[in-house]
Amino acid sequence: MHPDRRPIVGGNWKMNTLREEAVRLARAVDEGVRSMARMEDGSSAPPAVPACEVVIFPPYPWLLSVAQAVTGGAIAVGAQDLCHKSSGAFTGQVSAAMILDAGASWVIIGHSERRHVAGESDQLCGEKLQMALESGLRVIFCVGETWEQRSAGSADEVNARQLSAGFRAVSANQLERVAIAYEPVWAIGTGRTASPRDADEAHRAIRAWLASRYDPQSVQGVRILYGGSVNASNAVNLFARPEIDGGLIGGASLKPTEFLAIVAAASESPTDAST
Ligand code: PGA
Repeated sequence: MHPDRRPIVGGNWKMNTLREEAVRLARAVDEGVRSMARMEDGSSAPPAVPACEVVIFPPYPWLLSVAQAVTGGAIAVGAQDLCHKSSGAFTGQVSAAMILDAGASWVIIGHSERRHVAGESDQLCGEKLQMALESGLRVIFCVGETWEQRSAGSADEVNARQLSAGFRAVSANQLERVAIAYEPVWAIGTGRTASPRDADEAHRAIRAWLASRYDPQSVQGVRILYGGSVNASNAVNLFARPEIDGGLIGGASLKPTEFLAIVAAASESPTDAST
């Protein structure tokens, strides 16, 4: 964790939960984050700003119900994807305006399940990023290599290619509304996590890529999250690395106690380059 960057923990629920369960899960996370914030500032109410930014990403149909269930501002709500166009003949797609109208303020773009299962190109992810930023959404933009690419020594190159296409039209002013999630494809949902050292190195390479395009001050503020089989036990060591500014959590975000333990790890993490 870097002292100047407020960490983010995102809960990507993927295609899980029915409505009632989604609302219950959202309330449990919201209540847990509020009580953490109260403990941080030592008082009862009103809650302080939590040390960690928490965003939950339910499936589209539950966005409105979830956003209405967590209106206190302790946590934010986001969508798992969006359409690259603003409206029209795009059957099955959801626009940025619809996401905002449902009460969500964030969106995930370029998740590996969109790139590899739905076949989204680097170019399309770039168009989606532009649409999200022009519409006023905040974004977690995902990049990551497959195991074959890592074994071939081309992980940094793959990430740089995804970033180049994604950030093609992103201005320095827009950069503050984007966080990047480094999610190695081989670590997602597999129980196999990148070592804190390897993840930290990949994050450094991503920041170096940003530094080749943007001014140093803007780049310094960009949060780079790690995603891929993060759980309550490995989060502490991952978040202790100076370049890991939080996490994008899949499976563990469906269990409120585990997810809140990850949020606590991000909120309390000291910077320790030795792990
Ligand atoms: P996982 O998913 O935590 O279940 O590995 C992470 C993600 O897909 O963002």
